[in-house]
Amino acid sequence: MIVLNALKETEEWVAKAKSKGKIIGFVPTMGALHDGHMSLVERAEKENDMTIVSIFVNPTQFNNPDDLKKYPRTEEADIELLKKAAVDAVFIPDEKSLYPNGQQSEHFDFNGIENQMEGKFRPGHFDGVGTIVKKLFEIIQPDRVYFGEKDFQQLRIIQQMVASLKLPIQIVPVPIKRESDGLAMSSRNARLTKEMRKEAPIIYKILKEARKYYQNHSVSETKKWVQHRIEQTGLKLEYFEIADENTLLPVVRKTPSRAVRGFLAVFAGEIRLIDNIRLN
Ligand code: PAJ
Repeated sequence: MIVLNALKETEEWVAKAKSKGKIIGFVPTMGALHDGHMSLVERAEKENDMTIVSIFVNPTQFNNPDDLKKYPRTEEADIELLKKAAVDAVFIPDEKSLYPNGQQSEHFDFNGIENQMEGKFRPGHFDGVGTIVKKLFEIIQPDRVYFGEKDFQQLRIIQQMVASLKLPIQIVPVPIKRESDGLAMSSRNARLTKEMRKEAPIIYKILKEARKYYQNHSVSETKKWVQHRIEQTGLKLEYFEIADENTLLPVVRKTPSRAVRGFLAVFAGEIRLIDNIRLN
């Protein structure tokens, strides 16, 4: 595995792979790698000739400066993990090379998806994600890119961006990988207190109960019920929304022909966690 830092050597690596007709699979990450990330890496390796992973904690997508400062950074362990997985290349750029003119986001119109849920509660977040992912796509020119359903709205945002910019890239969704107790894997889990780590698996339990409850109840009843269930825990609900899986617009009435998902964000102490589940 080659570790690429400079833009120029990365572009040369890409050019060489392309000249040999290799299909490039790409997994963008912010590091602190766990099995969730590795499930994306495994899929990429299976489906492409070459796999490249990027590690970059992107400042423009953090609306909370403290979250950025405390974001876990485990570069050496990440490199070891990727080596073991026999990834072809890891791209670890520095901030100056990706943001030569300072930390500035491009403004995107993602067809309204950006105003829902994470977009509502994390102003500027998706402009930051769009900005960095677009830059990474320009450098790596991947054929396929892998995104986790853990960040379902991010996945839809990127699909929207690829469609509107008409990029020749296939976006591949990968299911959520969970701990054995049901907690969705996340780099931020490492920052949970012992107490909150014990409490957090209730999130997925409640989501699964919500899926059952939704079978015989309305959208608004299900939303109220989840709010009530979370109130009984040590977690603080930021939002629970039921939305169309494709448009991500909130669902008001049940429409059996449409795929619908429940999305939530909670605070476990100071740590913000998100999760989602297919409801029908
Ligand atoms: P990061 O949070 O590191 O996640 C990188 C990728 O791993 C994302 O596509 C995310 O959805 C996926 N992922 C994380 N946890 C997962 C889990 N438990 N199961 C399945 N997939 C999981 O998402 C980002 O970084 C950034 O926003 C990025 C796209 C790299 C842009 O900066």
